Amino acid sequence: MGKLLVLMLVMMFLAFESLEALDYGDALNKSILFFEGQRSGKLPTNQRVKWRADSALSDGSLANVNLIGGYYDAGDNVKFVWPMSFTTTLLSWAAIEYQNEISSVNQLGYLRSTIKWGTDFILRAHASPTMLYTQVGDGNSDHSCWERPEDMDTPRTLYSISSSSPGSEAAGEAAAALAAASLVFKSVDSTYSSTLLSHAKSLFEFADKYRGSYQASCPFYCSYSSYQDELLWAAAWLYKATGEKSYINYVISNKDWSQAVNEFSWDNKFAGAQALLASEFYNGTNDLAKFKTDVESFVCALMPGSSSQQIKPTPGGLLFIRDSSNLQYVTTATTVLFHYSKTLTKARVGSIQCGSTQFTVSQIRNFAKSQVDYILGNNPMKMSYMVGFGTKYPTQPHHRGSSLPSIHSKPEKIDCNGGYSYYNSDTPNPNVHTGAIVGGPNSSDQYSDKKSDYSHAEPTTYINAAFIGPVAALISSSG
Ligand SMILES: *[C@@H]1O[C@H](CO)[C@@H](O)[C@H](O)[C@H]1NC(C)=O
Ligand SMILES: *[C@@H]1O[C@H](CO)[C@@H](O)[C@H](O)[C@H]1NC(C)=O
Ligand SMILES: *[C@@H]1O[C@H](CO)[C@@H](O)[C@H](O)[C@H]1NC(C)=O
Repeated sequence: MGKLLVLMLVMMFLAFESLEALDYGDALNKSILFFEGQRSGKLPTNQRVKWRADSALSDGSLANVNLIGGYYDAGDNVKFVWPMSFTTTLLSWAAIEYQNEISSVNQLGYLRSTIKWGTDFILRAHASPTMLYTQVGDGNSDHSCWERPEDMDTPRTLYSISSSSPGSEAAGEAAAALAAASLVFKSVDSTYSSTLLSHAKSLFEFADKYRGSYQASCPFYCSYSSYQDELLWAAAWLYKATGEKSYINYVISNKDWSQAVNEFSWDNKFAGAQALLASEFYNGTNDLAKFKTDVESFVCALMPGSSSQQIKPTPGGLLFIRDSSNLQYVTTATTVLFHYSKTLTKARVGSIQCGSTQFTVSQIRNFAKSQVDYILGNNPMKMSYMVGFGTKYPTQPHHRGSSLPSIHSKPEKIDCNGGYSYYNSDTPNPNVHTGAIVGGPNSSDQYSDKKSDYSHAEPTTYINAAFIGPVAALISSSG
């Protein structure tokens, strides 16, 4: 009897401990803070990530334009506008969808600043109605050096698209980002919001009128899914932002572009567009039924036990799309799962049918929650994949600024090759890049925590951006 009581108490303590361990508010704080470590340009006085300093203050000078600011993409020092725009769209989506949850932990102001650091740059990059700068920095030279952004001396080559050399993926995603952000700023700064919206409309027109696939950032970011997904995604955001019928008519007349997919990523935005348009369908636009069918195919492809399941999770229960920065697909998929369960709840639809299997809304939501919990520590490695969250987390992210001593502690320049002694040292990074979510474990739920293992150890802006909505969705339910 006594033994049983002790056992029960121990179990209760463990259960309580694991609840305590997953503080979603703390995870949200940290996932937003991460973006300060990715900032390019002149840092503001309220910068909280202190190991960073000003960098790339001449970006754009090769063409006499101001392209200072924006975000470094991942562990490198290149600014890729196409994924940066996707990041900005995802951040804005989270701010719109989970405004109350985010504001309840006092993070809304920080999230808005994070979005604005992206949108200010995209506005600058949109130099004229049919001209968008799409990349700053030569990817090959940057990737062959291991340098702090503050020391960077590789060519800051400029890439752009125009009516004569179009790139509808990049222009379409930039339109989506600015349209989504216009909703975020609508009640806070209506002038800024209108500026965002007018650039969004102009970028969409550019993307649609001068159609062509964006391949200039390849091999780093190649478009595999072409641009129809970005055009639908941008039109869906513009409809949400303006309520103008022309955008919904565009989507309806091009609905055959929409495909059933099982990945949502910087390349392929169909699932995101389908999720947005499915909620418009439930709101009475019957012509959008195809998007409801397609988003349900996406959900059904992911749900364990679904008769139409396409994605096999790891033994530990993590969605596994591919062994290269896999967590990006987990966070984006989870974004859609939470969004669609919210849509179903609002529409008072209790379940969906996946072939011969039925899933209730709470089953979908619980599966989405299991992915967030896995990332934060409920996994076979018993570690968090977010730097600085919990007690055990990655110590060697593949990240230049984090792995080299801060410019404040070692002001002498560390050149292109000089950085490699740090890269090759099997020691924890000197700067803890708090909030950074790395590429994640392999298909056997294992993680080796080595800087050189970039497909698992590299953080990226879009992994974090897609995590913010899901972790915010759990804040109200965690009390
Ligand atoms: C998040 O940070 C804000 C201030 O930055 C603080 O007020 C809040 O308590 C934090 N929330 C959690 C859950 O840690
Ligand atoms: C749904 O429609 C109502 C009334 O037309 C509108 O007020 C609301 O904003 C719409 N909701 C969405 C998610 O579009
Ligand atoms: C996963 O990682 C572990 C540890 O690094 C390694 O031993 C194992 O072979 C890897 N498995 C797969 C399938 O890559």
